[in-house]
Amino acid sequence: MRILVLGGGGREHALAWKVAQSPGVSVFAAPGNPGIARIGTCIAVRDSVPETFLSVAEEIGADLTVAGPEVPLVAGVVDAFRARGRKIVGPDRAAAQLEGSKVFAKNFFIQRNIPTAGYAIADNPADARHAMDRFGFPVVLKADGLAAGKGVVVAHDRAEAEAALGALSGRLVVEEFLLGEEVSFIALCDGRDVLPLAPTQDHKAVFDGDAGPNTGGMGAYSDSAILTEAQSREILDRVIYPTVEATRFTGFLYAGMMMTASGPKVLEFNVRMGDPETQPLVHRMASDFVPALLAAAEGRLASAKLEWRTGPSVCVVLASGGYPGGYETGRPITGIESAEALGATVFHAGTRTGARGLETAGGRVLGVTAGADNLEDAISRAYRAAAEIHFEGMHSRTDIGRKGLERYNKNIVGT
Ligand code: AMP
Ligand code: GLY
Repeated sequence: MRILVLGGGGREHALAWKVAQSPGVSVFAAPGNPGIARIGTCIAVRDSVPETFLSVAEEIGADLTVAGPEVPLVAGVVDAFRARGRKIVGPDRAAAQLEGSKVFAKNFFIQRNIPTAGYAIADNPADARHAMDRFGFPVVLKADGLAAGKGVVVAHDRAEAEAALGALSGRLVVEEFLLGEEVSFIALCDGRDVLPLAPTQDHKAVFDGDAGPNTGGMGAYSDSAILTEAQSREILDRVIYPTVEATRFTGFLYAGMMMTASGPKVLEFNVRMGDPETQPLVHRMASDFVPALLAAAEGRLASAKLEWRTGPSVCVVLASGGYPGGYETGRPITGIESAEALGATVFHAGTRTGARGLETAGGRVLGVTAGADNLEDAISRAYRAAAEIHFEGMHSRTDIGRKGLERYNKNIVGT
């Protein structure tokens, strides 16, 4: 079977790595990256528009396509594939609006009675200031359209809010600040049935202790203990099922949740797998992913199952100096083999092959992923491996998974 993965980041390398382990599968990626090139065939594309991806799928005779990033989904890649009878995992253009527009998503939550943070829509700075006065500080400002994880500012005071108003353009959602533990809840959907993946926790802020501006994600871990059975059930019943029912959602529905004192509330919807959440997720997945992906594309997810290893997996992102602001590329990368010799899997997020070998090509460069029987060991394994890797300006958080660890320790002390 030929499986085509659309995209070329860490999430897509992780997806390709997992499906390549399925018997009888050949993996293709458009455009892919040097990590994927080690396990499959990468096809260069001139742009990311639906027609380009469709012609790649037709050229190689893809039996199944999995869309990684949101941009082609919002542009209607699933509609284009289905119109030609090609199997693809992802939502159609209409459902992709749940990620493509924060205003659309917020209105949807209210109509469907899906728990979310209080908000106001502001068409100009005066409206935004008015809403800020209503919510008080901290307050959250969100740009309406796609922003690669960087269109959200948590402003702690008026000066930060004014700076954000200057930086974010167009329509804004002004939102009540919620306190709690963040969880990425991702479910595979076929328009009717739902197969939840294991819960993950992302680390969005650039610095340790959640300080500094938001990034696409500086690291993530997956562990079944992140949510209790009852919490997962509540998210499924109050968020995922109502959405699938209302939109006939197909593909990966990613609910960014805040577990507040008054129950789980949605911060955002994404219409694809998370990046870096996918890296620890597929690393922990014990079953073959392909039957579930195929079942989702064929509308028979009710019969699909996924098994997970008991122990957690942790992914530490190594980023370019300056990211999430401006950064330089073309820095030579060393040490990946030594990191892998220590038992980690290194996913490529922003790399390319230059004249002197592998070099940096993006903000998030690599995702060093490792698993163990317990979270503490998985964290040390990932960091020990990451210490083998070097490129000029490299930076990473040193506390990926630490909050989870503190929570478990507290629970153990408390019982
Ligand atoms: P979003 O893209 O909407 O998920 O926002 C990015 C990040 O900003 C989230 O992962 C949270 O860490 C933070 N955030 C967003 N909305 C809120 C909120 N209402 N309260 C607190 N933090 C938030
Ligand atoms: N890591 C957050 C996201 O994929 O949107």
